[in-house]
Amino acid sequence: MKVLVVGATGAVGSAVAQVLAERGHEVVRAGRTRGDLKVDITSDASVEALYAAVGRVDAIVSAAGGLFFGPVTEMTPANFNVGLQDKLLGQVRLALLGQRVLHDGGSITLTTGVAAEDPVRGGSNAAAVNAAVEGFVRGAAIELPRGLRINAVSPTLLTESSAAYGALFPGVETVPAARAALAYVRSIEGPLTGRVFRVWQ
Ligand SMILES: NC(=O)c1ccc[n+]([C@@H]2O[C@H](COP(=O)([O-])OP(=O)(O)OC[C@H]3O[C@@H](n4cnc5c(N)ncnc54)[C@H](OP(=O)(O)O)[C@@H]3O)[C@@H](O)[C@H]2O)c1
Repeated sequence: MKVLVVGATGAVGSAVAQVLAERGHEVVRAGRTRGDLKVDITSDASVEALYAAVGRVDAIVSAAGGLFFGPVTEMTPANFNVGLQDKLLGQVRLALLGQRVLHDGGSITLTTGVAAEDPVRGGSNAAAVNAAVEGFVRGAAIELPRGLRINAVSPTLLTESSAAYGALFPGVETVPAARAALAYVRSIEGPLTGRVFRVWQ
């Protein structure tokens, strides 16, 4: 399969790109500043340009999307809007514009995270945005035509990201990125749609 991975230079996306390449897929790597192709998921024009450049694909993976972390007692609406514009609408944009470039039977896999269901201090934006992405996936799955599928992968904190984000997730057991990447394989190669594949415990 030809698979577009957006966020392919990141902790999650690089592991996904690696396992897909190992399984014989043709992987097109996209990132904001690095990769085979550059894209900004917060821009319709940039995402349209990405799809025009990549052509038809069998699967689209999003492993990108920024969030705001900070205490809810000090959070401003502008702070909250960071996650809405980046991780929520950015991924929804990839799905809405990307459905047109998918071959029949193709798939879209978005990324959420454990904070949707297991709150952490400072994580209210993450909780809301991840849950909204999961709601979009469930809603969109029942409407997509041509056998197209859409799922989300919800990883817990990656072992590789402990140094960067471990303080936000005290006592949370991490998983290796390679394990999280298998959930994306399941979404791409398997038959399921409208699912959230949780990668924890
Ligand atoms: N790491 C974890 O432990 C973990 C756990 C659960 C969920 N997640 C979720 O997984 C996703 C990826 O996290 P990560 O830790 O892998 O992040 P990361 O290491 O910072 O990588 C982010 C990737 O997305 C790209 N990117 C960032 N902003 C973009 C934009 N506006 N348009 C297009 N591409 C953009 C980056 O490209 P550049 O490098 O060029 O900027 C990079 O390839 C996030 O939504 C995060 O919430 C992560």
